[in-house]
Amino acid sequence: MADPKISIRHLYKIFGATPKRALEHVKAGMGKSELLETHHHVLGLRDINVDMQPGEITVIMGLSGSGKSTLIRHLNRLIDPTDGEVIVNGENIMDYSEAKLRRLRRENMSMVFQKFALLPHRTVLENAATPLIVEGARPRDYEAEATKWLDRVGLEGQGGQYPHQLSGGMQQRVGIARALTSNSDIMLMDEAFSALDPLIRTDMQDLLIELQRELAKTIVFITHDLDEALKLADHLVILKDGEVIQQGEPQHILMHPNDPYIVDFISDINRARVLRARTVMEKTSADPGGLAGTVAPDATLESVIAKSQGDTTLSYRVARDGEQVGVLSMREVVKALVPTDAAEGGLRRAS
Ligand SMILES: Nc1ncnc2c1ncn2[C@@H]1O[C@H](COP(=O)(O)OP(=O)(O)O)[C@@H](O)[C@H]1O
Ligand SMILES: [Mg+2]
Repeated sequence: MADPKISIRHLYKIFGATPKRALEHVKAGMGKSELLETHHHVLGLRDINVDMQPGEITVIMGLSGSGKSTLIRHLNRLIDPTDGEVIVNGENIMDYSEAKLRRLRRENMSMVFQKFALLPHRTVLENAATPLIVEGARPRDYEAEATKWLDRVGLEGQGGQYPHQLSGGMQQRVGIARALTSNSDIMLMDEAFSALDPLIRTDMQDLLIELQRELAKTIVFITHDLDEALKLADHLVILKDGEVIQQGEPQHILMHPNDPYIVDFISDINRARVLRARTVMEKTSADPGGLAGTVAPDATLESVIAKSQGDTTLSYRVARDGEQVGVLSMREVVKALVPTDAAEGGLRRAS
């Protein structure tokens, strides 16, 4: 695997008058509620370690107050940690001067906000061109570039409008176009779709996936919505009370939750719709004979069940580009639909 684009190492953040002193208690094991009660400090983040790979979408998921925004704001040092480091492109940004930090924020990272944060008295074109305007570009320099990205996010011909003339979904498209105009290779998205209506939100997720296929940015996407997280994440990080409870490939987490909290969190999802053939198949290139057909590695279990017409005696070849990567039996499909208990190593849920 390539070097991580962003590496978060032993990151702690404590809010209060004397965070360094409070840190000693936290490192000695004190939890969030005790720290608040006895020392009047808020534990924002505790010992966060996350590697974010180039070209991947890392999703940080957790309930409100779990520390998601605090975490993402460390990535461009809008917040300074109480302890730990953030490494971007191999450099510890804790060592950066103000000037280097400004350059990092302007050239390497773009942000997409939940409330769009568009300039109301600037046109859609000017909003999309903001990163270039900030650098002193004149209209003739930025028009083509901003228009290209507006077109790319589905806003052809809207450049002359003002933000208030657009719907929420369209305004967020401007927000994404603005991020793309900056040409940065890291995009930070804090609950970027959370304010949108469900159908619009789905459209925006699809747009992001489509753009990502083409542009392969390193995206840090924050959400409190599990369905959104599972849809977008290459790497999923689940936060609770400022701590990472589990992280990994989403399919792996669904099959191997390591904590009762995760088991609860994922208990309501439609597993047939989310789990993929590649996750449940037996990895083998051998042909056991009698296979009922071929399915793609990324086929959802739901689609395989439909294909089998519910016949649990069948098995399928799983093939990528014509080459067998595994065999999927309908018995295993049915088993995978039963939610897993917290795996060995984690705590077991009392039943
Ligand atoms: N500036 C601050 N001062 C004190 N506490 C804060 C501050 N910012 C965030 N917190 C606290 O840190 C925790 C995490 O907040 P936040 O990162 O905003 O969570 P999320 O984005 O997951 O909703 C919460 O308990 C919040 O109250
Ligand atoms: Mg937040």
